[in-house]
Amino acid sequence: MRVLFTGGSGKAGRVVVPYLIEQGHRVLNVDKVPLDLEGVDNLTADITDSGQMFNALSSYAGFDELEPGTGVPKFDAVVHFAAVPRILLVPDNETYRVNVIGTYNVMEAATKLGIRKIVFASSETTYGICFADGERKPEYIPVDEEHPVVPEDSYAMSKVVNEVTGRSFHQRTGADIYGLRINNVISPEQYETDFPTWLVNPDMRRRNFFAYIDARDLGQIVDLCLKTDGLGFQIFNASNDDHSVALTTPEIIARYYEGVPLRQEMGLEETFFSNRKAREMLGFEQRHHWRKYIADPRR
Ligand SMILES: NC(=O)c1ccc[n+]([C@@H]2O[C@H](COP(=O)([O-])OP(=O)(O)OC[C@H]3O[C@@H](n4cnc5c(N)ncnc54)[C@H](O)[C@@H]3O)[C@@H](O)[C@H]2O)c1
Repeated sequence: MRVLFTGGSGKAGRVVVPYLIEQGHRVLNVDKVPLDLEGVDNLTADITDSGQMFNALSSYAGFDELEPGTGVPKFDAVVHFAAVPRILLVPDNETYRVNVIGTYNVMEAATKLGIRKIVFASSETTYGICFADGERKPEYIPVDEEHPVVPEDSYAMSKVVNEVTGRSFHQRTGADIYGLRINNVISPEQYETDFPTWLVNPDMRRRNFFAYIDARDLGQIVDLCLKTDGLGFQIFNASNDDHSVALTTPEIIARYYEGVPLRQEMGLEETFFSNRKAREMLGFEQRHHWRKYIADPRR
């Protein structure tokens, strides 16, 4: 597919974009900074500028597209990752502005130009736990897509608005618009730099539901979203199958989730950030679990 990818130069994008290229897609990366990677076309643009988004979405992806002499080809899909990716990077109102206006602009331009597939980055933070003031527990575990989204911070609020925006553009146009509530993205080198500390300090992972998503597995989920048509508006949790700490499910429950209703039986290593919907509706199968890369400190 011919794909316009916003935010491809970021932490997640620089792994997901090459994954998509490996699957045979052509990718134009639209970002404020280019991604210097073989096979990636870049267009420097700002998602908060509607004119730039309409323009980018009706643009050639590279010089080779001038050759056939048949005009600008249409994009088959948009993957929208560009954002301010958390609180405490810029003032809260700026996080909200960039993410809310930026996502509106991308989705409006895509749907008005007749693009029928949009995959966008939402976030685990929509559930309100990640950036809560103090400790908040989920209303039940495992946390699936039906769990209420009640954030307290501007970043998570912006992502909830992004989801409402996606639902509305789907309602108006019938386009497939899939939002990914992405858990904490792990780049390959983090198995060595961060996991050894996290595994033995589970407090550090409480705000992420003790979960994680390998950036390459996130690439797989995005690719599956591109290939799976006709689902309308959907939200998918994006996480790996297992925990990012060296504790079993009952041990984590005893230490952190006492009194939280358990909605279904869980496996010994099963994530609290349920990815069942992505597995069942998209066919996601995790490939990069941490035990593949580092030893379990308890075994
Ligand atoms: N990293 C995580 O753990 C995580 C978790 C949940 C959700 N997400 C979401 O996934 C997406 C990607 O996250 P990431 O970690 O790669 O973030 P990142 O900050 O590393 O990358 C974001 C990219 O967006 C670009 N960008 C920012 N503002 C822009 C603008 N106005 N116009 C054009 N480009 C702009 C940046 O230049 C950057 O390359 C974001 O939407 C983020 O909110 C990330």
